[in-house]
Amino acid sequence: MSKYFYLSGFVAVALMTSSHAIASSNDEDAVKRGKYVMDIGGCVSCHTDKKNKGKELAGGVGLPTPFGTFYTPNITSDKEFGIGSWSTEQFIEAMTQGVSPDGSHYFPAFPYTSYAKMTRQDLVDLKAYLDTVKPVAKAAPDHDVPFPFNVREGMMVWKALFFDDSPFKPDPSKSEKWNRGSYLVNGPSHCVECHSPRNFMGGLDTDNLLAGEPKSPEGEKIPSLLSSDGSAFSKWSHTDTVFGLQMGMTPDGDFLGGSMGKVIVNTTGKMTEEDLKAIATYLGKPDKKKTAASNIEKSQSGS
Ligand code: HEC
Ligand code: HEC
Repeated sequence: MSKYFYLSGFVAVALMTSSHAIASSNDEDAVKRGKYVMDIGGCVSCHTDKKNKGKELAGGVGLPTPFGTFYTPNITSDKEFGIGSWSTEQFIEAMTQGVSPDGSHYFPAFPYTSYAKMTRQDLVDLKAYLDTVKPVAKAAPDHDVPFPFNVREGMMVWKALFFDDSPFKPDPSKSEKWNRGSYLVNGPSHCVECHSPRNFMGGLDTDNLLAGEPKSPEGEKIPSLLSSDGSAFSKWSHTDTVFGLQMGMTPDGDFLGGSMGKVIVNTTGKMTEEDLKAIATYLGKPDKKKTAASNIEKSQSGS
């Protein structure tokens, strides 16, 4: 306890001295950029209870996991029930370290494991947008997670084993476009969180990122997003990937559903064409002048 106190005081001083470098968080451009960061981050998928007509970002969405059901908190600008009283630094700490302003550890049902890769600028802008979200004075339900998985201190061990908080590192041998795609997939858009297998403790299997997950906590079969493992996706061209992520349709004419449906509505369907092309560059196969239509023919003829 006292150790924590000491540590957070230390961090606070360190952050106060560096805060001069941060762009002002209440200008209009930051808010606009922050709205887009929210979209690429898919916050709405987990923090807006659309099924029950919940208000924007007021939480209460149930997330089933092998360890129990987590309910997302209210992240509106309400000062008591939301995060309206948080400083930008406290917000960044939560998103990149998985630690709340009172020093407790978050469960990784909150994908801070990917958000840790987000740039400081994106997070500052995101907080500027969240500050404009209408306050909702309502608490979200408590998690329905049994002992011992409900013990936040246990997350310290989990984090030591499975949480890599190192920032995103661009690969200088690759193009800017490829790196932007890598940032989105591994950072804010957290595609890796669903599309990778996990070990029995819920940690990502980092040797097999994006290799797919035959049975997700919600009972879904999640396909591989690798480009060279013979999976269905490995045959998608860049154009197929852009189109699929925008419209939710595969080259075979199937519609993507389940939790990917939410991702398409709240995340990829709202991305700029440029960002979708970046993801395609990072994940997909170069076009070689193929069109999505010619791929449909190809897959129907079984080649
Ligand atoms: C996959 C679901 C999921 C997504 C996507 C998600 N969150 Fe969360 N978030 C959670 C869960 C679950 C918690 C609660 C964690 C806990 O109690 O330990 C949480 C907690 C938080 C908290 C802490 C709130 C508090 O009161 O302590 C913040 C802040 C937050 N999320 C912001 C965001 C933002 C911003 C985004 C989008 C960039 C986002 N979340 C996307 C599931 C999600
Ligand atoms: C919340 C979990 C989740 C997240 C996050 C997620 N996906 Fe998916 N994804 C799925 C599921 C489930 C399917 C299977 C949908 C179906 O079969 O209807 C899928 C399917 C896909 C497919 C179709 C592949 C095929 O072979 O048919 C692509 C492409 C894809 N996702 C890309 C992405 C990208 C890119 C991201 C990040 C921007 C992402 N996904 C994030 C759950 C997720």
